[in-house]
Amino acid sequence: MIRLEHVSKRFEAGGQTVEAVKDVSLHIEKGSIAGIIGFSGAGKSTLARCVNLLERPTEGRVIVGGSELTALSGRQLREKRKKIGMIFQHFNLFASRTVYGNVAYPLRGSGRSKKEIEDKVKPLLELVGLSDKADAYPSQLSGGQKQRVAIARALASDPEVLLSDEATSALDPETTQSILRLLKEVNRALGVTILIITHEMQVIKEICSQVYVMEGGRIVEQGDVFQVFAVPRQAVTRRFVDSTSHLSRIQELLDDPARPIKLNPGDYLFRLNYLERSTSEALISNISRRFELDVNILLGSIELIDGNPLGGLVVVAGGGHDKIAAAAEYLSKRNVQVEVISHG
Ligand SMILES: Nc1ncnc2c1ncn2[C@@H]1O[C@H](COP(=O)(O)OP(=O)(O)O)[C@@H](O)[C@H]1O
Ligand SMILES: [Mg+2]
Repeated sequence: MIRLEHVSKRFEAGGQTVEAVKDVSLHIEKGSIAGIIGFSGAGKSTLARCVNLLERPTEGRVIVGGSELTALSGRQLREKRKKIGMIFQHFNLFASRTVYGNVAYPLRGSGRSKKEIEDKVKPLLELVGLSDKADAYPSQLSGGQKQRVAIARALASDPEVLLSDEATSALDPETTQSILRLLKEVNRALGVTILIITHEMQVIKEICSQVYVMEGGRIVEQGDVFQVFAVPRQAVTRRFVDSTSHLSRIQELLDDPARPIKLNPGDYLFRLNYLERSTSEALISNISRRFELDVNILLGSIELIDGNPLGGLVVVAGGGHDKIAAAAEYLSKRNVQVEVISHG
């Protein structure tokens, strides 16, 4: 549905050249939800704006729904762009129009009668759960409600693609969840392909199946969400993983003289990381029974991505070197990475 081929975007500003996007190629399947994650300044918004040609790439080709946008004339492009909806962090609603007026806005001049517009707008308001707010003005709505209006408005022209640029970044965690659920529903019910731009790991984990990690204008890592975050290859990806896991705190705990972690002779401090999709097996109780180990969990951070555990544990295991080595081998065979942090 979205194909970018060697897209670059340079800005000339005050005699300086900023290369915001560098040689990005990507391919997003029709009907999927894909994410681009990166820290501020990585080039995400510029890349998103290249998808609908709000920014014309300096180099490369943009192909959406089979049409090469970079080859279209102004008028053809304006037509095609209607098939690409966009939502933003700050909602960008018209303050002087009601909720109904905002959602109906893209249908102006489409030759539809008042009744036809109503038949279009009402179900959209229902989809986003705002039927009772049709006559309200944006200033009378909460942030989450404003974003719902923006989503309904973006859907009014029956887009094939919805671009979401930090759409939940101004919202509290609970409202974020509800907006993400709505986007999932939009994807499921209408088949709209969604590209989520975010700096929040949680957002990607929640709804994306594919992820692209962006840094310094480039895509530095990409793939299936589980795979990318289970085995991060780039430092930037590791930082995102650590942002929603507290397993990395173990070093702090070890360095804290006020709360020493006592390891008896023969005890091992391990970090266990889930590397592959695995059915949840009672790994800890298995190793403690099979190898007669004492296992104490110090930290744990496990989430389910597509029903598969992602994350890991920090544990202290005691029972002697040989048994521990055998247990480590058992875990490795089950695709759990075993990392020795220290031993007594
Ligand atoms: N219109 C512009 N003119 C000049 N520089 C720009 C423009 N838009 C973005 N940039 C620069 O491009 C880089 C990437 O910005 P942006 O795409 O907004 O990143 P992100 O959305 O990941 O925070 C930044 O260095 C930013 O200052
Ligand atoms: Mg941005």
